Amino acid sequence: MTSHGTLGVAVIGTGRMGSDHVRRINDVISGARVAAVADIDAARAEHLAGGIEGCTPYTDPAAAMDDPAVDAVLIASPGPAHEAALLTAFARDLPVLCEKPLTPDPASALRVLAAEQELGHRRVQVGFMRRYDADYLALKSRLQQGVHGRPLMLHNKHRNADTPPGFTNAMMIHDSVVHEIDVTRWLLDEEITAVRVLRPAPTANAPEGLSDPQLILFETAAGQVVDTELFVNCGFGYQVSCEAVCEAGTARIGDDRGVFVNAAGRWGGTLTPGFVERFEEAYDRQVQRWVDATRRGEVEGPSCWDGYAAAAVCEAGVRAQQSGERVTVELAERPALYS
Ligand SMILES: NC(=O)c1ccc[n+]([C@@H]2O[C@H](COP(=O)([O-])OP(=O)(O)OC[C@H]3O[C@@H](n4cnc5c(N)ncnc54)[C@H](O)[C@@H]3O)[C@@H](O)[C@H]2O)c1
Repeated sequence: MTSHGTLGVAVIGTGRMGSDHVRRINDVISGARVAAVADIDAARAEHLAGGIEGCTPYTDPAAAMDDPAVDAVLIASPGPAHEAALLTAFARDLPVLCEKPLTPDPASALRVLAAEQELGHRRVQVGFMRRYDADYLALKSRLQQGVHGRPLMLHNKHRNADTPPGFTNAMMIHDSVVHEIDVTRWLLDEEITAVRVLRPAPTANAPEGLSDPQLILFETAAGQVVDTELFVNCGFGYQVSCEAVCEAGTARIGDDRGVFVNAAGRWGGTLTPGFVERFEEAYDRQVQRWVDATRRGEVEGPSCWDGYAAAAVCEAGVRAQQSGERVTVELAERPALYS
């Protein structure tokens, strides 16, 4: 860190999320600056670094982490590249904010868990940004305080206007439902034990071969049931909501965001076009909290265990999707470091 305590961050992967985090670190949050960027696409890294004073571009993530101006690492490369980047950061004992997923499958996530345990302390915050969204935080607070009694069920909706080319059924679990997996575990403070997936007749707007919408059912260790309607070619915008049904009431977030208008014979508001706009403040808060904790020498937020558990539920989810059967989640024992 500089004499002013400014955290020098290496951003690994400078695509959609990485370049947005670079902008966020430099222009939105405080206490950090982008000291290095790394991307296997040299031109992309050079272009991004060119606009930032004191930022060096690299094609090799390890070289970026070895830059003397670097104190911490933000990993925003594609999921399959995360394990290598995490192990490289661990070898240098650098603090990490790792975009979700921690890794794409439970076996690689377990290797990361083992490596972090060998370090003997937590080094990673996983980028499950919904935990930093004001609405989700308010809902979590109500559940934690028991305002409505014991939670019995959650009803989630997760809708996107459309999907990018090549979006598959497995990606509906790994890239979309993974967020409901994390908020379910976090809001209810329970592990997910089993998954079922129902696939209604698809919309004509879904690409060939994509089952869209899908209804995903989770069971938790405490016997709660959680349903998620996932509809990723709904055509009208981005919409995420969650209703907790408790013993003495319900609480719902995600509706009526922004300004409510009466005009031209209609009432209503506007939907955000995508996750970047809907969760912009959550991304900002997530990165600010990571920088603040790191400067204090602490680690907080979603852990490698949360990343591993999400990967285990995703694996069960894809099997449930393919088989139409109820699939039990296979979870390793939770290590003491994450208790
Ligand atoms: N939290 C969220 O809401 C959210 C939303 C979208 C994506 N993501 C996650 O963010 C990560 C990045 O997604 P994206 O949409 O920005 O992808 P992207 O394809 O736009 O960008 C990825 C970048 O990483 C680079 N890259 C590939 N392999 C690399 C490697 N080994 N080392 C360094 N750079 C490498 C690519 O050249 C590209 O520039 C993924 O893990 C994705 O799941 C999270």
